[in-house]
Amino acid sequence: MPYFEWTTQLDVGVDAMNDQHQRLIDIMNLLHQRVADKAPRDEIAGLVKSLADYTVRHFRAEESYMESLSYAGLARHRRIHEELLATLADHRRAFEQGATLGDEFFAFLKLWLSAHIKGIDKKYAPGACSASGRAA
Ligand code: FEO
Repeated sequence: MPYFEWTTQLDVGVDAMNDQHQRLIDIMNLLHQRVADKAPRDEIAGLVKSLADYTVRHFRAEESYMESLSYAGLARHRRIHEELLATLADHRRAFEQGATLGDEFFAFLKLWLSAHIKGIDKKYAPGACSASGRAA
């Protein structure tokens, strides 16, 4: 059983965003597995980079999608994305300076999935907001 799982509770009702969330979860699972395997640090660093790069790509795509809806919660959502990227960058920097990716890091990823996708992303789901973009 993978460490992180995509379930219907994470379904935001938009296929492209669901696909991207599943890709993020795939990268997180690979990272978790390779850390558990005690893979070389260079490999782990590469996976952290993949996670960071794909996250930036996903956040841009998601923000563009919300813009297309004239979604009123966009500014707040964008700020939350910036905070997530900053926290991810902090963990990445600590790893590059010799720390290990441990429970705190993976708890952060779990919280990202449970709190952000379930709690924040789902607010732009069709039916959850009007075309005029009810505030989140
Ligand atoms: Fe799917 Fe707001 O990140």
